[in-house]
Amino acid sequence: MSVMKEQIKSLHLKETEELYLYKLCLYCGNEKRVNAWNNSGVPPVDEIKSAQLHSISRRLQGFCSMLSRLPSFRRRFHEVVKALVQEEKKRVDAGTADYLSEIPAQTLCALKDLCSFDVVPYSLSLGYSYWGVGHIAHLNITGELLSYKDVIAKVIYDPKIKTVVNKVGSISNEFRVPKFEVLAGIDDMVTEVKQYGATFKLDYGLVYWNSRLEHEHIRLISLFQDGDIICDMFSGIGPFVIPAAQKGCIVYTNDLNPDSARYLKINAEINKVDDRVCAYNMYARAFICHLMQVPDCLETFSESERSTVYMKEIPINGIDYREATEIPCTTFSASATKRPSEISEEEYGNEDGAELEVTGRIKRSRNKRIRCFKPSNIRTWEHVDHVVMNLPASALQFLDASQEVLEGLTTLDSLLLLLAIN
Ligand SMILES: C[S@@+](CC[C@H](N)C(=O)[O-])C[C@H]1O[C@@H](n2cnc3c(N)ncnc32)[C@H](O)[C@@H]1O
Repeated sequence: MSVMKEQIKSLHLKETEELYLYKLCLYCGNEKRVNAWNNSGVPPVDEIKSAQLHSISRRLQGFCSMLSRLPSFRRRFHEVVKALVQEEKKRVDAGTADYLSEIPAQTLCALKDLCSFDVVPYSLSLGYSYWGVGHIAHLNITGELLSYKDVIAKVIYDPKIKTVVNKVGSISNEFRVPKFEVLAGIDDMVTEVKQYGATFKLDYGLVYWNSRLEHEHIRLISLFQDGDIICDMFSGIGPFVIPAAQKGCIVYTNDLNPDSARYLKINAEINKVDDRVCAYNMYARAFICHLMQVPDCLETFSESERSTVYMKEIPINGIDYREATEIPCTTFSASATKRPSEISEEEYGNEDGAELEVTGRIKRSRNKRIRCFKPSNIRTWEHVDHVVMNLPASALQFLDASQEVLEGLTTLDSLLLLLAIN
């Protein structure tokens, strides 16, 4: 409460604005009732300040809805009253006295102990705001603040934040997923986040997600061109993959965590880019070898026939892909040695993308052109434009496995910039 008091103080509200906040809190932000009561309160002209008042009122509502769970004065008060009543009853029964002022010194001391709490102005500073992930507020409370974690959670809790969690310990698993303790609200870790026009569904208790990386995601994606071939070795639930595919890139994506791989697929579908995303659930090393492996059947083909071989996407569900699997082969008829953006419109095939005709002369619109260029038609062992490696601390271990890919990168910049995030 004292944190909120300070926040309200720092807004330097005018009297009319204070009255407006009063109304907002009283009527839980119900617009109709707020407008109906003319208590001289008017919303601030400044839109930001007005939004701040709404947010304070929401948090106060959240706070109040949790109030009964706070260690309360009421409980102590009841104990005091109970003790007094019992004492009085005892003495009246014994016929010794009927005035509380005659309570023995020992009982009085005990009562004083019960009542002895000081209310002193006290403020806690987290040093950061919480991190919002959909309806979840993520806190990193440690050290001396841990004693106040429940109160902090209750201050943060508001009707929009349905779950307040605190990270427990440090991350030690290879999937980079922290352990969380639910401090307030409902125990529901499945949520949705929106970033740069894309929707990401995720289970925050099962997969890696970091909302603070948004700028880095945007920065890297701004380097990609429509038609680029991207390989994301540690893709999580797809913060690079989905926007890159939305931009028209073909993305090969991989994550060792089966839940991340599962949500990646869900997100590709939600954002309608599943035709441009080829998802795997393997060790990164196996994944990169898989992309770099020239299919055996290519050896037995003649030069003209080679251009009709493609690599098939491995489905995710139900199979353990930690071991590299043999690459199935089949045929298609586009010049896969070219990047999609380098292939002329005439070289793109039919609308549904099932087969690409090199020699076809059908002109297609740009969208159709992109749509028909499926990941399964690309010879990754010959060319990849960008490799994304977001695995702090250990991504460099995988560089040797990626050597062949790196040799094929468009520019050295691509590698350096992508590694910079680590
Ligand atoms: C730091 S997260 C980055 C995820 C995503 N790029 C993002 O920005 O949200 C690293 C990811 O690498 C995955 N991972 C860890 N070790 C791996 C390995 N050996 N092979 C493949 N993926 C791995 C983890 O499951 C995790 O999702």
